[in-house]
Amino acid sequence: MARLDNSRSGLLSLLFLSFFVVAFVPARAAVKTYQFDVQVKNVSRLCHAKPIVTVNGMYPGPTIYAREGDRVIINVTNHAQYNMSIHWHGLKQFRNGWADGPAYITQCPIKTGTSYSYDFNITGQRGTLWWHAHIFWLRATVYGAIVIMPQNGTSFPFPQPHMEANTILGEWWNTDVEELVKEGDKLGLPPKMSDAHTINGKPGPLFPCSEKHTYVLEVEQGKTYLLRIINAALNDELFFAIAGHTMTVVEIDAVYTKPFTTQALLIGPGQTTNVLVRADQLPGRYFMAARPFIDVPIPIDNKTVTAILQYKGIPNTVMPVLPQLPAPNDTEFALNYLAKLKSLNTPQFPALVPLKVDRRLFFTIGLGRNPCPTCQNGTKLAASLNNVTFVMPKVGLLQSHYFNIKGVFQTDFPDRPPTPFNYTGAPLTANLKTSSGTRLTKIAYNSTVEIILQDTNLLTVESHPFHLHGYNFFVVGTGLGNFNSSKDSANFNLVDPPERNTVGVPTGGWTAIRFRADNPGVWFLHCHLELHTSWGLKTALVVEDGKGADQSILPPPKDLPPC
Ligand code: C2O
Repeated sequence: MARLDNSRSGLLSLLFLSFFVVAFVPARAAVKTYQFDVQVKNVSRLCHAKPIVTVNGMYPGPTIYAREGDRVIINVTNHAQYNMSIHWHGLKQFRNGWADGPAYITQCPIKTGTSYSYDFNITGQRGTLWWHAHIFWLRATVYGAIVIMPQNGTSFPFPQPHMEANTILGEWWNTDVEELVKEGDKLGLPPKMSDAHTINGKPGPLFPCSEKHTYVLEVEQGKTYLLRIINAALNDELFFAIAGHTMTVVEIDAVYTKPFTTQALLIGPGQTTNVLVRADQLPGRYFMAARPFIDVPIPIDNKTVTAILQYKGIPNTVMPVLPQLPAPNDTEFALNYLAKLKSLNTPQFPALVPLKVDRRLFFTIGLGRNPCPTCQNGTKLAASLNNVTFVMPKVGLLQSHYFNIKGVFQTDFPDRPPTPFNYTGAPLTANLKTSSGTRLTKIAYNSTVEIILQDTNLLTVESHPFHLHGYNFFVVGTGLGNFNSSKDSANFNLVDPPERNTVGVPTGGWTAIRFRADNPGVWFLHCHLELHTSWGLKTALVVEDGKGADQSILPPPKDLPPC
């Protein structure tokens, strides 16, 4: 009895003490640590079993939970047969490219049997981001969510939801993806398209053997839910909708937006979208569904993935209804939807859009065919920016820059295409003398940069989700046809443009982004369609150090993987 009393009073004083600590000591950043064991596991979907690379045996992988201001340490141990690296997509990694993850850009791969600790602070960001393997096509199965809660003492700028749920869209192949890519490479053709899309790794009941591979979100009537939607698909922009329910968009790429309500949304590979959904319909079962948006005649996996929004108490025997998704080629819906995305731009969350530009870059996106005697058609598909097909180096670019190792890359990437032409006119097949090289753009510290990404009709027009590492940027303008600097810049939104880390360049159109180069390092810029990235649709920016004490790249960690 006495012992019980003692421990109880001990507990009470501990409770009192912790209340005291919480109430009177300013909130301090926490350290969140994770162990990621990269390991092969047998997984079965669509009646096909195969070994896949996973983190901790999970598909999708574990969610990283942190708070704005936290330090996060993720120790990655590689037990798989592939050398690999992991990228924390959308985290700015201020001065700390060492923790960014793209293989051969900011680090060499983590070899089989070795470990590397990604150690970074989360500063000035809150919302949904994600992580994925950043080498070969391994991100097909190696990916997961990153949830950054608002700093202690602050809340969402929208009503607190009852509950939140991750909704990760992905792609599934019945056969080994790395093998498919190798085959495609040999033939000079795109690898076979995926066999299904997935929501949280599950294709849903419209696919064979998938009854048990269906994601179900149980909801209570009258309550509001925050869905953290992530597009982890490799090659498809996706429409997403929920039957009978509207969604209120409140955040994209971990930046708050002006809320607006929509029946369906569009999300490109690499992007995230947070929506509020109120369970305000007749209790029942409602399909959530996603299907690609593709407005050019290119073969694509056009099948619909489904998951179920299920009201509490409704039996599984009730047949859900399908939502009305926009038609796969509904360009108008896509452009209208994207035009609604605006930064929240409040005093607490301002949109600090650069109003004047120090450095103007104009990058054309081109596809082409390179000679390949051993390939099926004697040619091999390739892609380029300003007619340069990027060649992956053998050692990390960030190390080469930091240690001043010569001969790894040049900083002579052209600021504009070598010869201007009618970019989006009649289809062009001419070989515009595409060259290959590891050529980068050097950018002065703290300068303001504008990049116009211009699609071209080389082989075909197509939309491209472009991702910049190390930064968010403002999407100040976008349009169809050729960018016209006098006419189009006059219409830029410099007040509340969407701020993100991945943006779509529309089919046969252009997109203008702006940012302040205040994060020194070597930062990858690439199309987030894995197919195009592997064809060379990528480059990197070298942002120089500033003069100040806290304006230069941090020293590399001791365990940085050697090449
Ligand atoms: Cu999510 Cu360089 O990629």
